[in-house]
Amino acid sequence: MVLRLLQRANYAVIHADALERERLAAAVNFERLRTLGVIDEAGNATTIPSAPAGPPAPGPIENDPQAAALDAGGGTAPAPDAPIVRPLEKSTDDADFADNPSIDKKWVEGLITSNHFAAVIAKYYGYPAGSFVSDMERAFLFCLVRAMKPQAVAEIGTAFCGTAELIARALWENGTGVLHTTDPFGAERAPLIISRWPEPLRNLTQFYPKSSMDFFMALAEAKVRLDIAFIDGDHDFEFAYYDVLMAARLLRPGGIMVIDNSDQTGPYYAAAQFLHDNPDWVELGNGLTGFRLSHPFSEPRSSLPKSACLIIKAPEIYPIGRLPRSTGQFATASPIVGFSSNIETPKFHGLLHYRLILRAFRDGNREIEEYKRAGKIALDSSTTGHALTYQLDEPLVSHLNERHGDCRHTLEIELAWEGPDTQRTIHLAAAPLPLVGEADRPRAEAVGGNTQA
Ligand SMILES: C[S@@+](CC[C@H](N)C(=O)[O-])C[C@H]1O[C@@H](n2cnc3c(N)ncnc32)[C@H](O)[C@@H]1O
Repeated sequence: MVLRLLQRANYAVIHADALERERLAAAVNFERLRTLGVIDEAGNATTIPSAPAGPPAPGPIENDPQAAALDAGGGTAPAPDAPIVRPLEKSTDDADFADNPSIDKKWVEGLITSNHFAAVIAKYYGYPAGSFVSDMERAFLFCLVRAMKPQAVAEIGTAFCGTAELIARALWENGTGVLHTTDPFGAERAPLIISRWPEPLRNLTQFYPKSSMDFFMALAEAKVRLDIAFIDGDHDFEFAYYDVLMAARLLRPGGIMVIDNSDQTGPYYAAAQFLHDNPDWVELGNGLTGFRLSHPFSEPRSSLPKSACLIIKAPEIYPIGRLPRSTGQFATASPIVGFSSNIETPKFHGLLHYRLILRAFRDGNREIEEYKRAGKIALDSSTTGHALTYQLDEPLVSHLNERHGDCRHTLEIELAWEGPDTQRTIHLAAAPLPLVGEADRPRAEAVGGNTQA
């Protein structure tokens, strides 16, 4: 209890400090909004009459189960400073997000100078109250969601749901998509806050009281493929780097990752290291391009002006280079007779090295066996073509399953490309898929658990 109070007090201090810094940054943006005519001298919205530019006006709390529980004689009283939840109403025009744009640097530049972006900032300026993230960055996430129409968005670090609520509102305006948000220290605060949201927002938000490691494992197991990942958890390098690596694995080709607090060493260098190792990913901004080893703490270093975040985009393809790339383990049936993929690179010749690892688990993982097969395939676009269907000479069989018939299996496919110096990578359309043989089919799980493709 004492620990919890201390944690809470500590949070309040950090929170106040972070908000103060971000408010200062937002003040500059405020000036731009005034110049654009979106708000007047007093900070009141002009172009959207219903959009308050300051803190939200008190409004009704819809569908408050806590209030219902209190009425019924149960539940806990809401904290006196519980934030007011605005009613659900559309805040943007579908027409401004209609044309399914390619999300690139030019799109970001166009968005942040647009009137509809300024209007979103005005609408959600300082709302909801409990956010650690700047108004500019939250408005960007809102518009990104509106433009991309994602099926799945992940947030690492829910805190007081300040960004989660905006993402949820944008998903609701789209009429599709789910927000998965996690915070290992949020088990008590986040569900309470979310329970006060309008029901449609609650329905599309899934909160996990998990560390990002457990969260990503849960998403991978549920075969969730992310369109957008917002990384805002533990900012130490090791944690942030893990979050970036796992978000990259679960993001679909062309998906977007937004990494908050690029002013801090952990998130910034995690993104820099990742982009260095994965040159097919691009930053949609200039937060990393100006990096100099001689200025390790230089600021500003953000993809968005007046913010501290990095926006990076996954390649539309699945590149394979000299270093082996793994799909990670995914659930499969056995036996494995090969794998398939499509090669996007127009012209190629070289060697594709592969290793397949089939793992069998039984008896609560007390018994585990591993079966491996490695080899190389000579590929040449003029003779072997672009559709790759590779059959193993001998199937990869789970002997443990043959003996007991009650195993769970995972498969991991690793690939590496050995081409001429002029062609150090080859591009696949998506991650390779396993080819499953007939023998075990009746009792096998469905195939297709590749979380990357
Ligand atoms: C900067 S706050 C997040 C702010 C929030 N996104 C917002 O919109 O206001 C960072 C959060 O990350 C959470 N956190 C700390 N370690 C974590 C971990 N290993 N995995 C996920 N979240 C973590 C903290 O509890 C804290 O609430």
